[in-house]
Amino acid sequence: MPNTAHYRDEAAKRLDPMVRDYYAGGAEDEETLRHNVTDWEAIGLIPRTFRDLSEIDLTTRLLGQRVTAPILTAPCSFNRLAHPDGELGVARAASEAGLIQVLSTASSTSLEEVAQSVPDGTRWFQLYCYRDRELTLSLVRRAEEAGYSALCLTVDVPVPGNRERDIHNGFHLPDDVRWANLDHVMGPEAAGSALSAYIKERWERDLSWATIGWLQAKTSLPLVIKGVMSAADAREAEQHGIGGIVVSNHGGRQLDGSISTCRALPAIGDAVGGGPMAVLVDGGIRRGSHVLKALALGADAVMIGRPYLWGLASDGQSGVTAVLSDFITELERAMALAGCRSIRECHQLEWMAQ
Ligand SMILES: Cc1cc2nc3c(=O)[nH]c(=O)nc-3n(C[C@H](O)[C@H](O)[C@H](O)COP(=O)(O)O)c2cc1C
Repeated sequence: MPNTAHYRDEAAKRLDPMVRDYYAGGAEDEETLRHNVTDWEAIGLIPRTFRDLSEIDLTTRLLGQRVTAPILTAPCSFNRLAHPDGELGVARAASEAGLIQVLSTASSTSLEEVAQSVPDGTRWFQLYCYRDRELTLSLVRRAEEAGYSALCLTVDVPVPGNRERDIHNGFHLPDDVRWANLDHVMGPEAAGSALSAYIKERWERDLSWATIGWLQAKTSLPLVIKGVMSAADAREAEQHGIGGIVVSNHGGRQLDGSISTCRALPAIGDAVGGGPMAVLVDGGIRRGSHVLKALALGADAVMIGRPYLWGLASDGQSGVTAVLSDFITELERAMALAGCRSIRECHQLEWMAQ
């Protein structure tokens, strides 16, 4: 069965180099991007034995919602750059697999079209907070009305990261890919090289608790905060009654030099794991065994980003289905080999740095 590296290589053959770099790249020297991947290798699990492994149960609950496995598709902008199936292909693949899709504000298919086309799917809406509060609220209302079950507020883009590959390539959106959720407010300049200036000007930089409290008061949806890397921030989030956090450095696309998410996770797991707030992690997760490591280090679930984009670029919706099903098969096998019959037992697995 192909692994994610296979889909990465297939995607690289098919994608326009500008898009390939947009997907693959990180900020500046891409140190964080590399460490996100390699640091999972530096974790060793201590398998348990003497257990009846005839039944392995991967199901779990996130914010009260039942999922087939603790894996979500991370919010990634402009899925239609990969393949015309775009966000709809990802929505169908995730729904058929029983997994949650997190749809980006910068989706190339509108949040309503995704919800109407794949009504059975469970999905969260990833929100970028705009300085224009009415605009932010209009996105929140639309997500609520369309049946999204959580808001995932991304807090690690106070300013755009310095993505030198994109600057070098003059990254821009082709004519047939658009900011589908924000067509009415995004001018043509926001599709081209001025995108970064546009974000700087319009996105909220004040993501203090006053702003987040304002958002909490305006919605009945649970809030998941994406981009938490410190245990102190995780504790603050818990004190403010946040539904979940995603330990994330935006796939190495924001602060180059940030620690990897794998290294950030244990302290956060110690601080808030097992409490009322769901702890998710993303960044560099490429194998089912990495998912198992994340669970052992304190996460309740993981998000995967680039791997599903590679599947989408390789073979549209079927490629996403293949990638998600590989992750589930690998996780189930890794759990059996480590002596874990349930997600709860994965949390109890011992590990050490190696
Ligand atoms: C091409 C691309 C676009 C992304 N767009 C968004 C986005 O719109 N919103 C967001 O919160 N994160 C975005 N991210 C970050 C992902 O949600 C996620 O944090 C990251 O991809 C996880 O790392 P991985 O790609 O190594 O799995 C993007 C990542 C990539 C690679």
